[in-house]
Parts: sequence; structure tokens; C-alpha cells
Amino acid sequence: MSENNFYITTPIYYVNDVPHIGHAYTTIAADVLKRWHRSGGEDSYFLTGTDEHGQKIQTAAEKRGITPIELCDEVVQNFKKLWDVLNIDNDDFIRTTQPRHEKVVQEVFRRLKASGDIYKGEYEGWYCVPCETYVPEAQMGEGQTCPDCGRALTKMTEETYFFRLSKYTEPLLKYYEEHPDAIMPKNRYNEVVSFIKSGLRDQSISRTTLKWGIPLPGDEAHVIYVWFDALINYLSALDFPEENGKWRKYWPVVHHLVGKDIIRFHCVIWPAMLMALGITPPVRVFAHGWWTVEGDKMSKSKGNVVDPFEMVDRYGRDPFRYFLLREVPFGHDGDFSEFAMVRRINSDLVNDLGNLLSRSLQMIDKYRGGDLPMTYTAADIDNEIKECAENTFKEMDALVGRFAFDEALKTLWTFIGRANKYIDETEPWKLGREGDKDRLDAVLRVLWESLRLSAVLVAPFMPETACGVWQQLGLDGSPLDLGRANWQWGKADKQIKVNRVGILFPRIDIEKWKAQKNARDEEKRLKSDPKANYKYEEAKPQIEYDDFAKLDLRVAMIEKVESVPKADRLYKLALDLGSEKRTIVSSIKEFYKPEELQGRKIIVLCNLKPAKFRGVESNGMLLAASSPDKSKETITLLTVIDDTIPTGSQIN
Ligand code: ME8
Ligand code: MG
Repeated sequence: MSENNFYITTPIYYVNDVPHIGHAYTTIAADVLKRWHRSGGEDSYFLTGTDEHGQKIQTAAEKRGITPIELCDEVVQNFKKLWDVLNIDNDDFIRTTQPRHEKVVQEVFRRLKASGDIYKGEYEGWYCVPCETYVPEAQMGEGQTCPDCGRALTKMTEETYFFRLSKYTEPLLKYYEEHPDAIMPKNRYNEVVSFIKSGLRDQSISRTTLKWGIPLPGDEAHVIYVWFDALINYLSALDFPEENGKWRKYWPVVHHLVGKDIIRFHCVIWPAMLMALGITPPVRVFAHGWWTVEGDKMSKSKGNVVDPFEMVDRYGRDPFRYFLLREVPFGHDGDFSEFAMVRRINSDLVNDLGNLLSRSLQMIDKYRGGDLPMTYTAADIDNEIKECAENTFKEMDALVGRFAFDEALKTLWTFIGRANKYIDETEPWKLGREGDKDRLDAVLRVLWESLRLSAVLVAPFMPETACGVWQQLGLDGSPLDLGRANWQWGKADKQIKVNRVGILFPRIDIEKWKAQKNARDEEKRLKSDPKANYKYEEAKPQIEYDDFAKLDLRVAMIEKVESVPKADRLYKLALDLGSEKRTIVSSIKEFYKPEELQGRKIIVLCNLKPAKFRGVESNGMLLAASSPDKSKETITLLTVIDDTIPTGSQIN
């Protein structure tokens, strides 16, 4: 174990679902940490992966009519593709169906069985299949439902193996007392500690009712409970228990990033399992908050699940990464809104960072033909910027060190704002006009240095953008490879020519964006509910047959169709009613072309009193149906199915 190692993990995600912004969030945060710590000179190891056993997966596969492993093999690709699209630099990707993992889970089981921490017993309880967990009676919702997901629980009795969790009540409390930073943020720490204080019960860790799991060594009627299996991934990926395995190097300086939904598994069961194995619990579990979408819980049934592939496609991966970490303090719940993202792109990325780069490079091009001034005499204001840069560097280090991504980015953006203001204060265009070459050199160099620092500090968050800035600044290599300690103000010892290639981020036209977003939302709404815009007319009061008999309805044939002058919606129809000919004016022009009407047999109300439309007398009314879809007016003429019926036939 060494303080210079940094092991970072995400939860391993269930493969019964497509990845959404929640999964993207944890993984992006872990990626930033890995990159940050590596650039700080630490030996960093970043693990993510998928959780592939359990009832959920088995059921999802059954529904699709495929085997569980076929489902896993397929869905795991969505996660791998997403990490690629999001530029995630993980060192390993573990799948719990891999032999390297299964054998470790079985080994852990054997060890704990041998030490007496696992014993056989019987369990009766209420089980929530979607959450893969038994729910204690005291915590059940009304009508035997799950307190977490609200769905119906299933009563189950089974022979099961138990993990002696109760035995670790005191050791866990002692561990947390001695390691107050082991769970962050503080409110989660308090929540876990008071949960442990309320008393722990032994945890059932095997199932006989299920097939899709790791076989329990020595008792093949059982498979190992999916959570017991899953948590061990953090060790099995490091080749535990091999003596020369990576775990000897990285344990216990492990940082588990998780959502607040799974904190008890990570802060109660997992450290107890580790203690039972004689292994020190992780130095830290950080539980971040929950994303809702435009005020609503994300759910498939609501159709509001935000697709990270779509977001990256539309806004770019770096803006998406930036937004998720900048918008909400890590640890708090957050609400995802595309509009908030668009606003941040325009203000922070286009106006602040993008403008600083393009203004600075334009001036270096204009006044120095692209050559970076190599020496300059610093004025007070130049030293102030330099000091500000050095403070930003230190502050960000401290802030990322305590997972405060939003504040870290805010700090960097305060510096970027300061640099933009410096341009306004020093007015380089005036210096150029006045031929004050020395001052101009200093200003251009200060701006270039500010941008170089910005690239270094932004790199873990927006790797692609940072490399783009780096290249435009005329620098070799990559800010991702530069150890942060190697950053120093003024460290450019050979002649540099800047390389302005274009804008970093295109500005989003808000009005256009709004119109497109509305259209997209409408389309989505209709897709999830095709009747969303339907409005059915209220029923009318009942009538006598005599009322109906008053209507003289007959079959008529349309002989001729003409437009009515100066009327967009009207046709003048010449009708053959068998016993007579008539003219009817009807407002169906926008729904039918004349050739679609000519020769058709329709139904006409003949005894309606004549009326005049635009000077043309209409004798009767044709019958048509109007759709209940109020989003678009549609009118359909009533025609006869059997065309051989003579015109003039009575309808009764
Ligand atoms: O729980 N907001 O997997 P899972 C923020 N396999 N984060 C969210 C989120 C949201 N709305 N939705 C999901 C499992 N997440 C187990 C883990 S670990 C040994 C086993 C993120 O697919 C968040 O990190 O349900 C959460 O903890 C995780 O996805 C749950 O993923
Ligand atoms: Mg979940």
C-alpha cells in the first residue's frame, strides 16, 4: 500500500437496462478523478464494469426469449460504446460473468464459510425482485410493497446461507468513528452510522429459487446472492487473493463512487465482508445525488429517460461532461434540463473560454505574426494575473481532492473571467496603435500563459477541448500527459508559433434551439402516447326515432368539383341525387384534391335549409367525420363501401 496510489471505481451497472445519464454521471466523475490524480503524479487505477447475475437479468432475458448470457453479451456493448463516446479512460472493465470474477467469489465464500462467518439457515421474508432485496416487514409499504420502488413484494421461504453481518455492528461503528471521512458527504456518513446503530441482522447471501448466478461451492442447489457476488468485483478485478495481485498495491486506498441508492451495500455489507476476510475497508465511499429530469423522476414508463448518446450527439461530449459536473454540487440531487445545458454552453464555454482563446490568438497573430513573445517585463497587473493563476491551481487541487467538482470548475472560470477582464483593462489594441511593443508583448504573453494553465486544469474534465487549446497555443505533446507539477508560469523555453484554427465551441442560437426542442418534445410525447392530443366530444342527449326520421339522408355522386373564388377552404360540388341534381358548398378543400372527389358516392343531408357561402347557394350538407386529434384538423368524407348502390338511395 502506498499513499501515491489511487484506485477509483464506479458501481458495476445492471445489464437489464440501457445506459442513461445517471450511469454516465458516476462514470464521468470517476474518469475526472482518475485523470486528475494521474496528472498529479499518482499511480491511478480506474475500474468500471457490469453486474450480470440475478433475478432481474434472468427475467429480462426470459421476456426477450434469449438466454441470460446472450442478453449480457448484447447489453454490455451499450455500456462499452458509451464509455467510448464519453472518452472514459478506464483501466479495466469487469463483467461478473467472467471466470476471473466467479472464481474469486467462490473463494471468498469458502474462506468465510471456513471461518464461521457464513452459516446455513432458513429465511422467510418479503422479496423485491426489481431491487433484488428482502424488505423487512417494518419497512414495507402499504399492501406489501417495496419502500424503494413501490412495487409488489413476493413472499419467499428458502433455505439459505447467511453472512454473520450482526457480528460486525461494533467493528463497523468503531471503524467509522476512527475514519470520519470514510463516507462522504457527511449526511450520508450520519445516515449509515445511525442505520448500523439501529442494529444489524445477518444477511442472506444465497438463493435456491434462481438459476442465474454463481454456483455456491459445495451446495449446487444454491446460487450466490447477486449483491454478495457484485461487491467482490472490486477485489477480483485486482486479482485478489493472489499475493502478487494488483490488490496488494491498490488496497485499501480505494475510492468507491456510488449513487445514494446503494450506499448501505457499500458502507455496511461490503466493509463487513472485508473485515471478515481480514482486509481493511476502503478509505472512502462517496455517494452522489440523484438526477431527475425537468422535475420528474426518470423512468421508462414516463418516457423521459435522457439518452447520453443523444446528448453527446447534439451538444458534444465535452460540453456534456462539463455540464454534469458543473451544474450540481457532487453529493446533491440535481435536475437535468437541456435548456440549462444550452445556457451554460453559451455562457461558460462559448463566451468565457472560447472567447479568451480566440481574442488572445487573434492578437498574437495580428501583432506578432503568430510568434509568442519569449521575454517580457511584468507590470503589477501581470503579476496579479500570475498570482491568480497559481492560486487557482492550488485551490482546484484542494477542491477536486474533496470531490467538489462544481466549485473546482467555478474557480477555474473565475480565473478565465479575470483573464478576459485583463484584456479589457490592458486594451492591447491601443498598445498596438501606439506602438508600445514592450507592453503589448507582456500582455500577449500573460494571456497565452493563462490559456496554457486553463488547458492543464480543464483537461481531466474536457480532455478533447484541452488538447484543442493546447494545439492552438502551438504546444507539443498533450496537456493530459503533462504532470500537473510540471506546470509553471512562464515555462516556455523555445520559440513558439501559435496555431489558430478556429472557434472551440459554436454558439447555440437560443430561439432556433427552442423551436427545435419543442418539436422534438412533441414528437416524443406523441410517440409515447399517440392519443396525447385527442379530445373526444361530449355525448349528446338521447333523441326519439322520430327526431332521426326527420333527416332526409341520401347517397349522392359527386359529378364536378370547382373552387369558390376568394375562398381558401371551399369547394362547390355538383351532385347527382338520382331524382335530381344539386349544388353543395363544402369546406373540405384543404383535405381533398378535386380528382380524389370526382365520381365518389357520398352521403348528403338533403333537407337542410339552403344557405349562401360567398354568394353561392348550397342546397344540403355532406356528411364527414372529424378526428378527435386536436393537434391536426382532419376531416374524412363518409362514402359508401359498395359502389353499386344507386344514387338517391335513402339512409334510414
Ligand atoms: O445498483 N441519478 O446497478 P444500477 C444519479 N448493479 N445516478 C444514477 C441514477 C440517477 N437518476 N440512476 C442510476 C446497481 N445512477 C448494482 C451496483 S455495485 C457492486 C452493484 C447510477 O445499474 C448511480 O451510480 O442500478 C447508481 O448508484 C447506479 O447508477 C446504479 O446502477
Ligand atoms: Mg438501480
